Amino acid sequence: MKGIILAGGAGSRLYPTSAIYSKQLTIIYDKPMIYYPLSVLMLASIKEILIISNSETLPFYKKLFQNGNDIGLKIEYALQNKPRGLADAFIVGKKFIGSDDVTMILGDNIFYGNLNFVRDAVQNNIGATVFGYHVENPKSFGVVEFDDESNVVSIEEKPDNPKSNYAVVGLYVYNNEIVEIAENLKPSARGELEITDVNKEYLKRNKLYVKLFGRGVAWLDTGTPRTLLDASSFFGALEDRQGLKVACIEEVAYMMNCINRKQFKELIGKIPNSSYKEYLENIYNDRTLYQEYQK
Ligand code: DAU
Repeated sequence: MKGIILAGGAGSRLYPTSAIYSKQLTIIYDKPMIYYPLSVLMLASIKEILIISNSETLPFYKKLFQNGNDIGLKIEYALQNKPRGLADAFIVGKKFIGSDDVTMILGDNIFYGNLNFVRDAVQNNIGATVFGYHVENPKSFGVVEFDDESNVVSIEEKPDNPKSNYAVVGLYVYNNEIVEIAENLKPSARGELEITDVNKEYLKRNKLYVKLFGRGVAWLDTGTPRTLLDASSFFGALEDRQGLKVACIEEVAYMMNCINRKQFKELIGKIPNSSYKEYLENIYNDRTLYQEYQK
């Protein structure tokens, strides 16, 4: 299973922050936003990852992650020169995907909680697996409608009259049919290749599975300055209380055995003096955590 992080777009809603580079690099409490979706892929044991972005932002990602080797990954980069829609990622990423299945996560989607169900979906996916989350205002999202037996009846992009409160989140697990489906899509009225049209095609083929997020999982909004601040406060409160970080990719790499203890130590050595480095040193020295990670 390959992984794609789509992390470009115009990001105009966050101007002027987004005037310099795309929003997925804005800071959520103590780290760039993209660390959160990257760690979701890592926790699902996905090790080959393509980051897609625009020409302004790609150099920053390359500087941050290089080839991913330090954290036990293989990270590649691809340019999307215009935001042609979410489904365009599978055309841009066609060569990278090859004959594999692929999980895409949007670089601005932040999840928190027990995410084992993502790993299960990645391991057991047959056609397409997408995820539904109960929201107050479904009009801003892809919306899924179920019948009384919980079968998917319809899926619509940003409907004026949503048929349910279940939004489709920005995390999609697809089999290799995705490339052919994306290549045959027609742009929507707003001129984009819509991910919802991909999901509709899987539904037509009877291969769309929608799993609902449990209440213990948070899906945080990052669309406005206020919600960005809320997300920072959320992780700030949590991390400071626990003394443990969320989406600390070096720790996740160690925890998931993408790197061994020696490599973790070397990696820490490369990090500039900072509270982030101190945190990683503490993790390295914590034998209880180490035993926990070995299980
Ligand atoms: O967040 C979940 C929602 O994401 C889904 O419920 C919707 O079905 C889906 O269409 C999408 O809606 P958004 O309105 O949030 O999509 P947006 O155009 O804002 O793009 C999402 C992210 O992807 C954003 O950070 C920018 C990036 N992007 C977007 C496009 C269209 C790209 O990198 N390239 C693109 O071509």
